Amino acid sequence: MLRVAVVGSGPSGVYTAQALVQQSLVPDVRVDVLDRLPCPYGLVRYGVAPDHEKIKSLQNTLRAVLEDERIGFAGNVEVGARGLTPAGLLRLYHAVVYCVGAARDRRLGLPGEDLPGSFSATDFVSWYSAHPDAAGSGFTLGARSAVVIGVGNVAVDVTRILARGAAELRPTDVPHEALGALAGSRVREVHMVGRRGPSQAKFTTKELRELATLPDASVGVEPTDLALDPGYADPSGLPAVGRRNVDVVRGWAEAGGDAARARARSIRLRFFL
Ligand SMILES: Cc1cc2nc3c(=O)[nH]c(=O)nc-3n(C[C@H](O)[C@H](O)[C@H](O)COP(=O)(O)OP(=O)(O)OC[C@H]3O[C@@H](n4cnc5c(N)ncnc54)[C@H](O)[C@@H]3O)c2cc1C
Ligand SMILES: NC(=O)c1ccc[n+]([C@@H]2O[C@H](COP(=O)([O-])OP(=O)(O)OC[C@H]3O[C@@H](n4cnc5c(N)ncnc54)[C@H](OP(=O)(O)O)[C@@H]3O)[C@@H](O)[C@H]2O)c1
Repeated sequence: MLRVAVVGSGPSGVYTAQALVQQSLVPDVRVDVLDRLPCPYGLVRYGVAPDHEKIKSLQNTLRAVLEDERIGFAGNVEVGARGLTPAGLLRLYHAVVYCVGAARDRRLGLPGEDLPGSFSATDFVSWYSAHPDAAGSGFTLGARSAVVIGVGNVAVDVTRILARGAAELRPTDVPHEALGALAGSRVREVHMVGRRGPSQAKFTTKELRELATLPDASVGVEPTDLALDPGYADPSGLPAVGRRNVDVVRGWAEAGGDAARARARSIRLRFFL
């Protein structure tokens, strides 16, 4: 029998375990999936936004894999300086596969980054996802205006959660404490800021478009920012996702900012800042 440890129970760890028991070169493989957290599924459980129920339901698929009798799951097992060592694991298993994700923040390296009122998306997402690491932290959302730095899908998630009304989040699995804080939120404007243009932004079109579907929020862009992006003026040379994103942003620019005054909250996309 070949015994393998997979460290990390996010999608990469669970699918690695599945691939190991499904392959046919080695007939008898047993896999233990280990995670430092008590519960499995990594960011599918503790990072995917609560209002993305369909993606969150991937947990059911991952659970079906962990229920295979050749695969075991052990939570509360940290591998590293504070727990089991890699050498210790190799005494117990023939092989170890590390699927530990990329959990740390990327620092901006700017003075003021740690001033009160400035947070990493990791902390904010962990808070509204009830990540065990966020236990005891809290956000009061007393400011009227919030700036989200970055134009990737996590920035879109954070912007959307700040701009959604608590009523829309109530049916989701957002934790009670975060729901209370979001219900009392005074945030009325969310500015999502990219250092490059809309044609190079990292968000995907489906996620970008969703911002305009929030019932209580309007979306606006600054025409002067867009004029700086050659890919906006001529999208023909862009990859497909860039072209689609530019189309969405163009639609918002052409619709103008009138809707902004009619809704409870506004989302402003800014570029080249
Ligand atoms: C905020 C956010 C939202 C996202 N939303 C989406 C989405 O809607 N749709 C989508 O397709 N993708 C989304 N993604 C991307 C997706 O979540 C990741 O690509 C995916 O989860 C990566 O899987 P992974 O298994 O590599 O890592 P992870 O999911 O991070 O899992 C790693 C696991 O390893 C464990 N671990 C770490 N260190 C140790 C250790 N030393 N010992 C033991 N265990 C350890 C962790 O506890 C964790 O359970 C999102 C990402 C983020 C950050
Ligand atoms: N499908 C979903 O709903 C969903 C939701 C969340 C996450 N995800 C996935 O999870 C992964 C991680 O997403 P992510 O949003 O964290 O990362 P990402 O896609 O790499 O986006 C990071 C953003 O931050 C910006 N940035 C980084 N350093 C900066 C700096 N110093 N100053 C200003 N801006 C800076 C980047 O700009 P530059 O491009 O200029 O570097 C980029 O716009 C991605 O694969 C994403 O698609 C998916």
